[in-house]
Parts: sequence; C-alpha cells; structure tokens
Amino acid sequence: MNVTHLECALCGLKHEARRLLNLCRECGKPLLVRYDLDRARQTLTRESMAGRRSDLWRYREVLPVDNDENIVSLGEGWTPLLRARRLGERIGIRKLYIKDESQNPTQSFKARGMTTAVSMAKELGATKLAVPSAGNAAGALAAYAARAGLECFIFMPRDTPRANVVECEQTGAHVTLMDGLITDCGAEIGRRKDAEGWFDVSTLKEPYRVEGKKTLGYELAEQFDWELPDVIIYPTGGGTGLIGMWKAFAEMQDMGWIGTKRPRMVTVQASGCAPIVRAFEERKRFADEFPNAATTASGLRVPKAIGDFLILDALRESGGAAESVTDEELIAATSEIGAAEGVFCAPEGLIVEKSKQTSV
Ligand SMILES: Cc1ncc(COP(=O)(O)O)c(C=O)c1O
Ligand SMILES: [Zn+2]
Repeated sequence: MNVTHLECALCGLKHEARRLLNLCRECGKPLLVRYDLDRARQTLTRESMAGRRSDLWRYREVLPVDNDENIVSLGEGWTPLLRARRLGERIGIRKLYIKDESQNPTQSFKARGMTTAVSMAKELGATKLAVPSAGNAAGALAAYAARAGLECFIFMPRDTPRANVVECEQTGAHVTLMDGLITDCGAEIGRRKDAEGWFDVSTLKEPYRVEGKKTLGYELAEQFDWELPDVIIYPTGGGTGLIGMWKAFAEMQDMGWIGTKRPRMVTVQASGCAPIVRAFEERKRFADEFPNAATTASGLRVPKAIGDFLILDALRESGGAAESVTDEELIAATSEIGAAEGVFCAPEGLIVEKSKQTSV
C-alpha cells in the first residue's frame, strides 16, 4: 500500500517497513509508520468517504497492511459522536461531545489498535503474540488474536478487574496474573519473548497499534465536517490514542484535508498515577516513573509510558494541559455522565469540546 518506512519518533532513524520490528535499534524509542501521502491523497479524498465501509478501515490508504486478506476485523471504529447537551449545561460547556468508544468490539477503543497490530503481525508472519495489560487492551488482543487464529499470551497485574481477565480466557488467551504493575508484566514479556517466540505488542513497543488508534482523529474530523474541535480531553495511560490523533492531524494537513489549526490536547490522569501531569508541570520532556501507582481506573495505571515525550510534545505544541483527578471524582463522574446522557462509561472516558456550531 502506501507505507514507505518506519521512523524513530525520537532520533528520526529510518527502518524498513516490511519486517516485524519493535523499537528503534539505535535509541530504543517508538517507531512510527510513514506513508506516501501524496499517493494516498489521490484516492483518499474527503468526497470519497461517503460510500466507504463503516469501520475504521474506511481510511485504508493511511493504514498499514499490504494484502486485504490479512485484515483482521471485528467491525471496529466509526463510533458515534454524541452531543452531550445536558452534561454540557451542567458543567458550563456549550458544545460538549462524547466519542462513545464502548461501541467498539470488546467495548473499548483498544480494538482500534489491535485490529491494525494483529493484522500486521499476521501479515509479517508472527504466530504468538504477547501483551501486558491492566485493563482493556488484553481483551482486545485476545479477541483479535482469536479472530486471526494466532496464539495469545497475556500478563496482567493480579488485581486487574475480574471482567477483563474472564474476557481474555473466554477468547482463548493464555492469561498469567502477576504480582506488581503493568510495567512488571511488560518486563516479564521482555525477559521471555525471545525464548518463547512471542511478538511483543505492548503499547508503542510495536509500530502498528497507534495506526489504528489514530483513526480516532480521522473520525473526529469527518464527523465534525472537517473542522476539528477546540479541545480534546483524553484519559491517558500509555497515551497511544492521543499520540495517534496528533499524528492523524499532521497527516490530514499534509493531504490538504485540514489547515494548521489544532485542538488543544488535554491529558487527564488519576491522581494516584499521574506521571505525565507531573512531567508537564515540571516542564520535562520525559516523565519519571510514578512511585506507588494506584487507581481504580486500571487502564490508567501506567506509571511509566514509553511514548511520554510524544504525549508531552503534543500537549505543549497544542497549547493544551494536563490535569489529575481523584478516584472519587472519577467515579462520581461516571454516574453523572450516565444519569445525564445515558452513557455507561468506564472511569476512563473521551470528551470533546467545540465552541462553534457544527452540522453534527
Ligand atoms: C477506556 C480506556 N480509556 C483510556 C485508556 C488509556 O489509553 P492509553 O493507554 O492509550 O493512554 C484505557 C487503557 O486501558 C482505557 O481502557
Ligand atoms: Zn531512535
């Protein structure tokens, strides 16, 4: 398709695209997929969108995977963008929207990342996939691996919510519960993967999850009639969705779909695990590991994110912000959103603010 190469997000070193790769071989930072966007834009036009499939593969020209037969799909993406009038009135925001990602397969936006990661793993010949997860990523990987006929090995902190564990077991994954945090689970995979023949699909430790997540950015643009919102509030763990949206905006600008205006990107983290908020406040480009990380929003319990500098760069370049909230506030917000809008959300959640009238 239109992929030209992989590029290190920190040092810029180019890597070959058609190989199973994890991190930059020079500096150990994430690799991002680069496309021939001049070629992509010839068929991927705003006008061409109307007749396309109603999942994230509608943006086919800016997604990896060479051969359509390798696409592993459960109907992910193209989720509703709900106007949240009542909630907006209550909190004093005139145009508030919720991107309802619970309508994805496996009920979270992790499906977006896994459709692309698993499709690419299959295309490039991986047979065993491994991931550390404290929340929804594991269930998504288990489902997509099952769909692809690949073996799946999942490492979760022992106190991961039971529903997340059961979901993985029921979709045929090998689940190991470990004492410790997601970082300990990731380290265990790192130690064993070569001997076991596992391909590590940890967030941003392989280049393709972020490609699926970036479709959130394409969808927001399309659903808002090609005018991006003023503010995007993103509950941040590893940060893949935020990094992905930021990448999507740059690609859309290169293709002439949008101008230079960007939403202010806002990270929200739980106060018991807020490494990005702390680094933002301390004006650091890289975040220190957050000690004794603890929060009931288990998907946000990521004490050290390998894409920290990409999140922080996007927050700063966009004139955004980083805020932490207590678990009590998170839980109160889920029932407030539920009662005001009928959306039964996790203590993690995506909200968008628009100041101008849109046709949506
Ligand atoms: C519902 C939900 N929102 C947000 C996040 C955080 O996502 P990321 O790790 O991409 O920052 C997670 C992670 O598990 C999640 O499950
Ligand atoms: Zn590098």
